[in-house]
Amino acid sequence: MVLTNGNEIFNNARKGKYAVGAFNINDLEWTRGILAAAQETNTPILVQTSMGAAKYMGGYELCLHLVQDTIKSMGITVPVVMHLDHGNYEAAKECIEVGYNSVMFDGHDLPFDENLEKTKEIVKLAHAKGMSVEAEVGSIGGTEDGITGAGELADVEEAKTLAATGVDYLAVGIGNIHGVYPENWQGLNFDRLQELAAEISTPLVLHGGSGIPKEQIVKAISMGISKVNVNTELQLSFAKATREYIEAGHDQDVNAKGYDPRKLLAPGTKAITDTTKERIEWFGTPSI
Ligand code: 13P
Repeated sequence: MVLTNGNEIFNNARKGKYAVGAFNINDLEWTRGILAAAQETNTPILVQTSMGAAKYMGGYELCLHLVQDTIKSMGITVPVVMHLDHGNYEAAKECIEVGYNSVMFDGHDLPFDENLEKTKEIVKLAHAKGMSVEAEVGSIGGTEDGITGAGELADVEEAKTLAATGVDYLAVGIGNIHGVYPENWQGLNFDRLQELAAEISTPLVLHGGSGIPKEQIVKAISMGISKVNVNTELQLSFAKATREYIEAGHDQDVNAKGYDPRKLLAPGTKAITDTTKERIEWFGTPSI
């Protein structure tokens, strides 16, 4: 079975001190680009939809079918986890209902007790159907899907309490930021990561995986990060490849003569594959 929950994959990653990448999809091209990278490297992968991307594409059920059918039509054989990224309570419940393999319930903006109670509920619902759950402690900085977090460091006691709910992976704030990192960014807080990893055996998740220098990512993985999320880097590489294609004289694919997505979007799709493959290599994900 290609689609699977993430439990075995991420527990093995934590034990083996490598990470598995979680890449955001926004359309058919991204889906194909990311799945091609997983197949070409023969590694497991996590394909995730934010609430905004799912809304754009037509809903969670459509996204699940898109991934399922693309897996089939491309002949993908590596394990793929279909995951909800940064879901609120309603979105997490809907994705469990629809049949995702894994959901993130992001309750970081709720009072901690409410985050805890709702996380417990989502864990119960998801586990009853064999699905995995990611929770978040300490807000991740930057803006994702219009939600801006202040970028606090995860509190170790709160992280322990959330981990004890039985979540399968835990997103921790360690100075990471969604989107492009500012010039004056201080880097990842390895002291806090060490404290968290010493107390919590649950696989830990690093959001905001774009723009962090490779050495810092590699170090974080060696200390207990088992899942790294990447979105912005894919957006940037898609945009760059498309721009270069047009500037190289292919503007006839998008002018008065019409718009041919099959030509115009091909370089971007290839760039998504190349960027995903590069990240898989950074994360040390072993082939299966
Ligand atoms: P970036 O957009 O910074 O890569 O972050 C992605 C992410 O963490 C999605 O949850």
